Amino acid sequence: MDKIVINGGVPLCGEVQVSGAKNSALPLLFATLLCDGVSEITNVPELRDITTAVKLLRELGAEVESADHCCRVDSRRIESIQASYDLVKTMRASVLVLGPLLARCGHARVSLPGGCAIGARPINLHLKGLEALGAKIRIDHGYVEATAPRLRGARISFDLPTVGGTENLLMAAALAQGETVLENAAREPEVVQLAEALMSMGVKIEGAGTAIIHIQGVDQLAPLQCRVIPDRIEAGTFIIAAAITAGNVLVRGAVRKDLEALISKLIEAGVRISEEGDALRVVGPKRPTAVDIRTSVFPGFPTDMQAQFMALMTLADGSSRIAETVFENRFMHVCELQRMGADIRIDGNSAIIHGVDQLVGAPVMATDLRASASLILAGLAAENTTEVSRIYHLDRGYERIEKKLAMLGARIRRERE
Ligand code: UD1
Repeated sequence: MDKIVINGGVPLCGEVQVSGAKNSALPLLFATLLCDGVSEITNVPELRDITTAVKLLRELGAEVESADHCCRVDSRRIESIQASYDLVKTMRASVLVLGPLLARCGHARVSLPGGCAIGARPINLHLKGLEALGAKIRIDHGYVEATAPRLRGARISFDLPTVGGTENLLMAAALAQGETVLENAAREPEVVQLAEALMSMGVKIEGAGTAIIHIQGVDQLAPLQCRVIPDRIEAGTFIIAAAITAGNVLVRGAVRKDLEALISKLIEAGVRISEEGDALRVVGPKRPTAVDIRTSVFPGFPTDMQAQFMALMTLADGSSRIAETVFENRFMHVCELQRMGADIRIDGNSAIIHGVDQLVGAPVMATDLRASASLILAGLAAENTTEVSRIYHLDRGYERIEKKLAMLGARIRRERE
């Protein structure tokens, strides 16, 4: 297994290009199942989660060619309607095939994902929504079995704005008979991109990006042609990399409107951020100021940036409180940051961080995707050597992160353990 070795203390400097968004590419790849043709998606990041999604599409019978950040998916022949436990357990987003398979084939069998490192993460709201569209759902041997000869549009009000639930229902409603209204829908940019993709395939959708989305189902969808939006979480991670090393970095592809909550907190912390064309220039302060955050759904502060922001706050002047309201168990990085000298205390769903003058490198273990990124960021700022092991989490969601950071001057390398 690989590990990342970092000799910290170098202010990052230069330009970095953000890759396509993992969380957008995944639903777009699964949306190709809705049509009977050949779709083409560009700017697809090269990541382990994408490889898993391609494997799943192939298992279902689609023919997929994937090269140079472009995926061509021929979904004319769908031979299987099952997403196996092996694939769903390595990538929870595999449950996003449920909506499209059910809508297209009238039947789907998808493994229940089970728990994961950051919380219980049930899919009850996905299932409740599909039932409202007329699906019969039962659980058999750990699998969701869903059937519906033809889904029918309905009004669905989510108990909470779930990203995956909204995406699954958008895709199911695209081929349903009549109008579906999603209330309390997620408003994340990735949901908006999926809605726009479905519109380009012939579905009439209004309100994507707001809490109420109207979808007028159609009998047939045209193939999808689209370009994945830049990854706002990867962009945010590079922005913090510049901030935490007191560096000066131009982050190309960072879209300000998708990062507003993070940017305003970073500005409060003393980071200088300005727009230069389609890029953001980030200049880190000598020492950041402590700032409180509270994660929430878009446009609030993203839970996927919480761990990275915490790494920055470990070195801040003063004390900060980070409240995690989206996932119940997303502080696994705290113990590892403590091993590097961070002063953090957990208080219910909050972490209280007293900034220290310096972090010191240590061997640490990545526990989930964004926790891994937080440890890399801490390592970039720490004295001496940090070794981050179990980086398979990192490879799920960051494309060549060590190469991109090395181009900015970081002393970072991948080693075999
Ligand atoms: C997506 C993102 C993930 C991000 C998360 C929140 C993808 C592939 N993943 O995950 O990176 O951290 O949004 O921004 O896009 N919930 C239920 N019942 C459900 C569904 C969700 O109770 O049926 C709860 C979850 O346990 C969680 C909250 O709702 O506490 C938000 O989850 P959700 O928005 O669904 O996250 P994902 O789509 O899984």
